[in-house]
Amino acid sequence: MRSTQTWTDAVIESLQDLTPTVREFCIRPTGGLQRHAPGSHLQVQVLVNGKPQTRSYSLVGEPDGQTLRIAVKRLDEGRGGSLAMWQLAVGDRLQVSEPQNHFALDFNAPAYLLVAGGIGITPLVLMAQALASRSASTGQSVRMLYGARSETELAFLPQLRSSLGEALHTAVATPIDFAAEIAALPTGAQMYVCGPVPMLDAVRRAWEASARPQADLRYETFGSSGRFAPQAFRLQVPRHALDITVPADCSLLDALEQAGVQTVFDCNRGECGLCALDVLALDGEIDHRDVFLSGHEKRENKRICACVSRVLGSITLDSSYRPDA
Ligand code: FES
Repeated sequence: MRSTQTWTDAVIESLQDLTPTVREFCIRPTGGLQRHAPGSHLQVQVLVNGKPQTRSYSLVGEPDGQTLRIAVKRLDEGRGGSLAMWQLAVGDRLQVSEPQNHFALDFNAPAYLLVAGGIGITPLVLMAQALASRSASTGQSVRMLYGARSETELAFLPQLRSSLGEALHTAVATPIDFAAEIAALPTGAQMYVCGPVPMLDAVRRAWEASARPQADLRYETFGSSGRFAPQAFRLQVPRHALDITVPADCSLLDALEQAGVQTVFDCNRGECGLCALDVLALDGEIDHRDVFLSGHEKRENKRICACVSRVLGSITLDSSYRPDA
């Protein structure tokens, strides 16, 4: 049960492989569109195992008012959305939303630190370009740290080098000292981060330790960054007399919806917490993949964000939890 979504017909205009596992899609909505701001994303409907599912992808590249660009990392052990996207060809049609923005860039800070891990670079590309183009006239500084597992997986490197020059720092298979990076920032600086959950957790710990304002740390994540590869697990919901197996390629949220259990959700990315459900019993381990629950809450295992988090073993949930109830 999602907030109302309007879908538009679109056609794939071109495809480009940026790395061995990252493909850029240039999409042209048939009805035209409005220019989007840095941090915006696009909802896309894809058929996964014959069933329509929604995925969110950050918009990359300068908006031209006619086409939208997204970059999709192929995840062979993901929920199937990226593999479905990679099967699309130029000329194929699909349904997309209007651009939306839950990761807006505030242009009023004196300095910015952008941090990307892997495919988390996508929302930060346009931020980097927008900030770099203003910095000469505004005096605002911008620095980017871009981590990846290998050199070949550093997508958008030419564009970022062109915009940022010496302000771009890559870290290939090496940890980033977030405490030192944050300590070097001037007062009032803002930090924008997108990457896997363990990286975000490390950034959040370093930011909290620095005692800087919480509002100056902004982040976004993707729900594919768990500690374990997805596997099937048993799900019971006594309130609905439900006892099913959630397949490895299906999210907990989708399994609930397909079983007729309505669940409130919105972001589908582990950020808003609307889909969080009470855990009644757990036999095994929860692979918390959200950034909504605190570290303490994750260790307690009393709630689970159904849109992204998974289970190793079996879990019993109550479907009645609502954050604002
Ligand atoms: S829908 Fe937002 S955290 Fe799950």
